[in-house]
Amino acid sequence: MEGKYVRLRAVEETDLPFCQLLYNDLELRRLVVGWDFPVSLAQQKRWFETSQQDRNNIRLIIENKEKESIGLTGLWDIDWHDRHALTAVKLLLSDENKGKGYGRDAVMTVCAYAFFEVGLFRLWTTIINYNAPSFKTYVERSGWKVEGLLRQHVFRNGKSHDLYYVGCLREDFLAVSDAIDYVPSEIPAGYDIIPPKEGQV
Ligand SMILES: CC(C)(COP(=O)(O)OP(=O)(O)OC[C@H]1O[C@@H](n2cnc3c(N)ncnc32)[C@H](O)[C@@H]1OP(=O)(O)O)[C@@H](O)C(=O)NCCC(=O)NCCS
Repeated sequence: MEGKYVRLRAVEETDLPFCQLLYNDLELRRLVVGWDFPVSLAQQKRWFETSQQDRNNIRLIIENKEKESIGLTGLWDIDWHDRHALTAVKLLLSDENKGKGYGRDAVMTVCAYAFFEVGLFRLWTTIINYNAPSFKTYVERSGWKVEGLLRQHVFRNGKSHDLYYVGCLREDFLAVSDAIDYVPSEIPAGYDIIPPKEGQV
């Protein structure tokens, strides 16, 4: 999946040290929901082996155009009947690359993949109320809507914080001014529809 600045691809075994770094990064741990003890490389390897059979959770590496790994996104808890899933984005960026559009591009790219390739209708995620970069990326720049607020739901840095529930429908995504740039064309370039001959259908 190609965005404007990023590319999403499957996680390979060679990515596990990067995934471990991302998972254990202190700043990222303070910004995202879901708490756990730091993970070892051995735990990452065990996760990787079981994840190969998992059809309901898919993690994707985010690369820049130079093919350097810069983060992770994916679809979790995919509900194939009701056609929704949880998504998230985590980037490990140097200070000079923060705020350069990688995060928003990754969100738009994973939305387009979910809505037009996987066939989902709704994506959702949660944002701690002090995570302005994430709130801006999803809600102000990518068409996501606030759907609810859980009061004092997340314990971080010795204090409980409110948690926003945010969601995006396919039509919310399509209403974003440049959404069309992310939507794959219906027919691959260079191919035409073959009209049925009389009597064939
Ligand atoms: C949230 C995150 C993905 C944003 O990535 P990014 O590449 O820095 O963001 P972008 O450059 O695409 O910016 C998107 C918007 O957020 C704004 N933004 C980025 N960093 C910001 C900051 N520190 N403070 C305020 N706004 C910020 C940008 O200005 C931009 O809005 P604009 O176009 O109106 O100026 C990244 O910071 C991250 O990985 N955070 C930690 C994990 C996380 O919070 N994930 C989301 C929870 S699921």
